[in-house]
Amino acid sequence: METQRHFPYSFIDRVIISEADIKTRVKALGDTITQDYQNSERLLLLGLLRGSVVFITDLMREIRRDITMDFMSVSSYNKSESSGFVRIDSDHKTNIRGWDVILIDDIVDSGYTIRTVRKLLLDREPRSLKVCTLLDKPERHKVDIDIDYLGFSIPDYFVVGYGLDYEEKGRNLPYIASINLKKGEG
Ligand code: IMP
Ligand code: MG
Repeated sequence: METQRHFPYSFIDRVIISEADIKTRVKALGDTITQDYQNSERLLLLGLLRGSVVFITDLMREIRRDITMDFMSVSSYNKSESSGFVRIDSDHKTNIRGWDVILIDDIVDSGYTIRTVRKLLLDREPRSLKVCTLLDKPERHKVDIDIDYLGFSIPDYFVVGYGLDYEEKGRNLPYIASINLKKGEG
């Protein structure tokens, strides 16, 4: 395994996806998206704040065509529990009517976030709407979700790094790591 850089987070258990593996996978996703949208006139990458920020900024640089980037902020999460309730905290600026939109998030857990945002976006009449997430925890789904572009499926771990946080910590880790709260706060 690659040498782990030292970060001051004692709750980290172990690296489950290395920086190198993320890079390879993100490049492959970028290549696929480049292929799939050859005939698209207007492509929007619409990221959900804040978890998707690291992923979207790497992914966009692997897409070999013009794109527009926009963001929405939604919250659905109380501590480590998913609820069916999803609130829109701030909306995107682009008028997406007639656009090809790829909704980008860090991870699908219960699926409520993606399901809710997807429905809302469809009402705004994009030309097409697809979903791209770095991670998926299929065992945790509470609703049916189709992910068109997926980085990795993972078991039911709570993970941090590459944009994902535990109580706002760990977003700057360059890899995906599972956490172990028994190791205490760091
Ligand atoms: P869902 O609505 O239950 O699918 O929750 C999705 C959101 O919960 C993601 O956008 C993340 O912000 C958060 N989330 C779910 N699982 C994890 C995790 O393992 N680590 C960090 N955040 C997570
Ligand atoms: Mg999120």
